Amino acid sequence: MNLHKSVLQKGTIAIALLFLVACASTKKESRIIADFNPDWNFKLGDYPTAIQANFDANDWRTLDLPHDWSIEGAFNKDNPTKQAQAFLPAGKGWYRKTFTLPEDWKNKNVSIEFDGVFKNSEVFINGHSLGMRPNGYISFAYELSQYLNFGTQKNIIAVKVDNDAQPNSRWYTGSGIYRNVRLVASEKLHVAKWGTYVTTRGITKDKAIVDIDVDVKNGLGTNKLFKLVSTILDKNNVEVAKAISDGNIPANSILQVKQNTKIENPILWDTENPYLYKIVTKVYDGSTVVDTYETPLGVRYFNFDAEKGFSLNGKPTKILGVCLHHDNGALGAVENIHAVKRKLKILKEMGTNAIRMSHNPHSLEMMKLCDEMGFIVQDEFTDVWKKKKVTNDYHKDWDAWHKQDLEDFIKRDRNHPSVMMWSIGNEIREQFDSTGIAITRELAQIVKSLDTTRPVTSALTENVIEKNFIYQSGALDLLGFNYKHEDYKDFPTKFKGQKILASESVSALETRGHYDMPTDSIRMWPTKHNAPFDGNADLTVTAYDNIASYWGTTHEENWKTIKKQDFMAGTFIWTGFDYLGEPDPYPYPARSSYFGIVDLAGLPKDVYYMYQSEWSDKDVLHLLPHWNWKQGQMIDVWSYYNNADEVELLLNGKSLGSKAKKGEELHIAWKVPFEAGTLKAISRKEGKIVKETEIHTAGEAVKIDLKSDKTSIKNDGYDLVYVTVSLQDKDGNLLPKADNLINFKVSGGAKIVGVDNGYQASLEPFKADYRKLYNGKCVVILQSNKKAENITLEATTAGNISLGTVSIKVE
Ligand code: GAL
Repeated sequence: MNLHKSVLQKGTIAIALLFLVACASTKKESRIIADFNPDWNFKLGDYPTAIQANFDANDWRTLDLPHDWSIEGAFNKDNPTKQAQAFLPAGKGWYRKTFTLPEDWKNKNVSIEFDGVFKNSEVFINGHSLGMRPNGYISFAYELSQYLNFGTQKNIIAVKVDNDAQPNSRWYTGSGIYRNVRLVASEKLHVAKWGTYVTTRGITKDKAIVDIDVDVKNGLGTNKLFKLVSTILDKNNVEVAKAISDGNIPANSILQVKQNTKIENPILWDTENPYLYKIVTKVYDGSTVVDTYETPLGVRYFNFDAEKGFSLNGKPTKILGVCLHHDNGALGAVENIHAVKRKLKILKEMGTNAIRMSHNPHSLEMMKLCDEMGFIVQDEFTDVWKKKKVTNDYHKDWDAWHKQDLEDFIKRDRNHPSVMMWSIGNEIREQFDSTGIAITRELAQIVKSLDTTRPVTSALTENVIEKNFIYQSGALDLLGFNYKHEDYKDFPTKFKGQKILASESVSALETRGHYDMPTDSIRMWPTKHNAPFDGNADLTVTAYDNIASYWGTTHEENWKTIKKQDFMAGTFIWTGFDYLGEPDPYPYPARSSYFGIVDLAGLPKDVYYMYQSEWSDKDVLHLLPHWNWKQGQMIDVWSYYNNADEVELLLNGKSLGSKAKKGEELHIAWKVPFEAGTLKAISRKEGKIVKETEIHTAGEAVKIDLKSDKTSIKNDGYDLVYVTVSLQDKDGNLLPKADNLINFKVSGGAKIVGVDNGYQASLEPFKADYRKLYNGKCVVILQSNKKAENITLEATTAGNISLGTVSIKVE
């Protein structure tokens, strides 16, 4: 088959369809935003001649973006990415796509938008280089108009991606066009890229003033009179305010128009009710609408206070945050809104109200969902300035690119109501030398020139004033400190009058479902500390929260400190989820981190429930460990609970007494000689039962249980469903140490795009139709394959164990 031809046809149809839909409503009214992800050709290696129209790409693979070639590769300890990047391959690769455009696009302004390409991308259209972009996390766009062909004549877009120079990161980056790509067509008179800047002020119960700055672009060779109408719509699309302006814009230029209007009785955005308005800005040429541009709007105000910490809409609010890296576990760096939504849902359920975008700009989907789901965001620019952390990291591009990258980052994200802090860097080396002063001031000034409504912060490690030059610059509005929680108590005197946040804390280590006893002491890694953690032969770390890196502490110790310090705006835990790379404390084959509250597959570790008991209103009563041990073995039973005065523990119906947390304690514990059967906890408030939880000794494995996180998905090629697989006895009890190999078969409207079990040292591929269970569980990720057929997933394993099935509807 001629791949080339089929791509050309598919591409043509996709664009033409979108065009028709857009035209069907009102001619010219809207810009056309076409999904440009489908049907690319890809090949690993370097192919400079692929920019030419007659290049033969017959042996290239056909795929849909977003795509990450690293996650498809095999783990190898000799890969130059090393353990920081999960021992996965990097290298160079090329993408190429053939497409045609309707004849009447000739007079339009056509651009291509990339949300992120890792890294050193260079984009070519019909043989012309549009530019290159070293930073793999920055969103960027190119105007294509002058190089395009229309009608039946084809266009070739080629993208070179060079992720060869390694090591270039302290965590997994992925390789390729790993975020979404769009083609955008508008009239020559239109709202410029990231062309609105919306802020609110004077917020009371009765009103909110909304300032709307709009950059209007005129790509025509003559000046233009125009009208600009910005309408604010509420959640139900009902108009609540409007601003109208007239202007005259010279040929080939951008004009900024300042509008303002007022919303009466505004509904405020907060983390529990993230109410969003929408601003629809229309550009008129005479009486014709030539462009429509939407900007999200959340009306909220917030304050950082040196004594009282953070408040949102006047309400004291502790920032209960987690740091996240950008990977989506088994999907690698591939961005998919459904993967992000699942992640944020799991964190929301835990009581998290804030996300720190470690340590780089995250995707548009992530930003949008934080607005919609109610998270306070610390948006972070970078992990390095001029001084390197690893040989080939961003320091190499700093001089040439930091200004543009920082500006683009702020412009892209400044309309998100969720964003409440700009971090100009994480643990930057320049904090230790005097060059840090000038750079901090320069970066803060760049940020302020584009947004003055959020504080500029930086995640610092050094709290000795004389040694910290970023602090000495005086340019930070908010001091972020990473770790050293025992020093916080001195901060109000040491940093008098300063606003302070624990920008990164904890770095404790855990493996889901693995338990080492006794649990009487906190141990630190590496071994140079008093009660060392030397590691386990199977590269596990106990899931009791009692092992931490020496620069951090346990989850409980950190939260005990933050909880009682009102001046501290809040904390961002390192990390919400395990991520690929940085598998401290272990060497190969360990390849993903141990720091997550939730494992890489998205299965919560036990400490998740400590946070839930403290950070959410839900009734929590969680018991650990599991209940399959040796007769008589002394077991440390822990319980996280809330909303109750005490918890009674019963073993096979016999009470082992009641306990309550004393003082600052965040869990209660018993030592119980093991006896098979049922361990039950009952929490009571004023004598009344609040909650009961039981764990049972599992018998013989008889069945595989499959639970999907959705009952139906869309037939759109993107939607995902996550299926949790567990091995159970006849009564539905989890076999807590099972490691059976499970084989999957999927039929209907989905394909398997990832498998994982959360074990940090597994070398099984993430792209497979099989996976071993780890501590009884694994997860399969299915993605719509665009077929309108209901999905069935079957899971089988060796032995006398009945298969598991689950059905998912396709809409
Ligand atoms: C911090 C750093 C993070 C991560 C973490 C691991 O110092 O900011 O990126 O490396 O340590 O504990």
